[in-house]
Parts: sequence; structure tokens; C-alpha cells
Amino acid sequence: MKKLIAGNWKMNGTVAEAQALTKAVLDGIKADPSLSESCDFVVCPPFLHLPTGSWILNNDKGRAALGGQDCALTENGAFTGDTSAAMLADAGCSYVILGHSERRQHHKETDAEVATKAKLAHAKGLITIICVGETEQERERGQEKDVVGRQLAEALPASVTAQNTVIAYEPVWAIGTGKNATPDDIAAMHSFIRTRFKEKLADSANMRILYGGSVKPENAQALFKVDNVDGALIGGASLKADQFLEIAKKVNF
Ligand code: PGA
Repeated sequence: MKKLIAGNWKMNGTVAEAQALTKAVLDGIKADPSLSESCDFVVCPPFLHLPTGSWILNNDKGRAALGGQDCALTENGAFTGDTSAAMLADAGCSYVILGHSERRQHHKETDAEVATKAKLAHAKGLITIICVGETEQERERGQEKDVVGRQLAEALPASVTAQNTVIAYEPVWAIGTGKNATPDDIAAMHSFIRTRFKEKLADSANMRILYGGSVKPENAQALFKVDNVDGALIGGASLKADQFLEIAKKVNF
């Protein structure tokens, strides 16, 4: 299976910076054809920069996809400030990140809400990247599998397939901190997640399971060697095209 290299730009950058970053990522992918052979790419800019990204990516269709970082809980209507799954699809997105720990923490998003959003996103043809992961305290208490197991049970709607859903395991304590889970810890959790899907999906082996949390060019090589790691969800390092692409290059090492 090709690895999925996903960039989560979070709330960063101006329109001009988004333009330059999208273009630099595309230029880098074009310059090294081996990258597209081993990886699929998706970049997830802030909502406001999606049209910019879409315009650039459309001129080079297929090299990299566009994704939103969240979508609304409802289809449309009087929901000030929200952006619907339909709007994302219309703006050129084929992916949407849902249930990121920053949304769970700062916007009190629940698993049930993530499931509702995912159902709406699937109905609009979007591939959902659903984030799961335990906090540092939960890991210290040895509860990481309970937490991720609960998130998988409650944050995924019945519409999930191996094609329309990607799981991103992101231990909360590893996001933006420079701390990394060990390859053994990652292997254990990714295998646990895969096993969960074996019970639900006949083609569970085709579901991508990404790792996220301080993924950098320096640790990517070891990460991609871990069983059941089908790509990475990259925050900080996705804001620099050279680092983002350097991570993708480690897939072939
Ligand atoms: P990070 O973020 O790479 O900056 O740790 C990852 C994420 O939050 O998706």
C-alpha cells in the first residue's frame, strides 16, 4: 500500500504563504517522480486558504490532494462560523481531518460529534482522517488501549469503509512537543487498531493507519519501518516544504 503523507497546517500562514507552500510542495513532488510512486499526498490548509490551495493543486491534478481540518456537525443553515462538508467538497477537498486532539481539547468535541461529522463527510464523498490518541496521564496509567478502543468504537459512523476512512494515531503528549512514542509503542497501538477493524471490515488490511506527533525528517525513517504504519499526519514539519518532502523521502529508505 502507498503511504499517505498528510500535512496539517493548523492555524498558520497568510494567503501568500499558503500559495508559496502549496507550490513548493507540488514542485518538490514533480521534481522527484519516485515520491509519487511510494506516497500519496494531502495538504490541509486553514479554511480560508483552501481556494488558494485548490487553484494551485487543480493545475496539477492528482499530485497532491486537498483537505479541510474540520467540518460542521450539520449540513447547512444558520450555524455562524461553521463550514460544512459540502462546502469542503465544493472547494476542491477530497479529505477532512476530524476529531483532532486540539479540537477535542479546545472545542470540547466528543466522539459522538466526530461520528456525526464523519457521516456527513462520507455522504459528500470526502475521505475522513479520524484522529485518536491518549493523553500523557492516560498512558502513565496504562489506559492507552482503553482510550483508543473507546474512540474507535464511538467516533466512527456505520458508513466507515477502508476506502473512505484513514485513522491517525496521535498520542496527545507527542503533538508539537518533540516527544516521540517508541517504535514498539507505535507498533503495539497500530496493530491494536488494525485488529479492531478486522472485526468490522472484510478488507481491513486496506485501511490506512497514520502516525502523528512530532514527525520530523530525523525520526521518519524509523517510523515508516514499523508494521501497520501507512503514513504520517504531520503538523509543524508540514509548514516547511523541504521538511515535509524530506519525511516522504524516508519511505523508500
Ligand atoms: P506535530 O502535529 O507534527 O506538530 O506534532 C501533528 C498533528 O497535530 O497532527
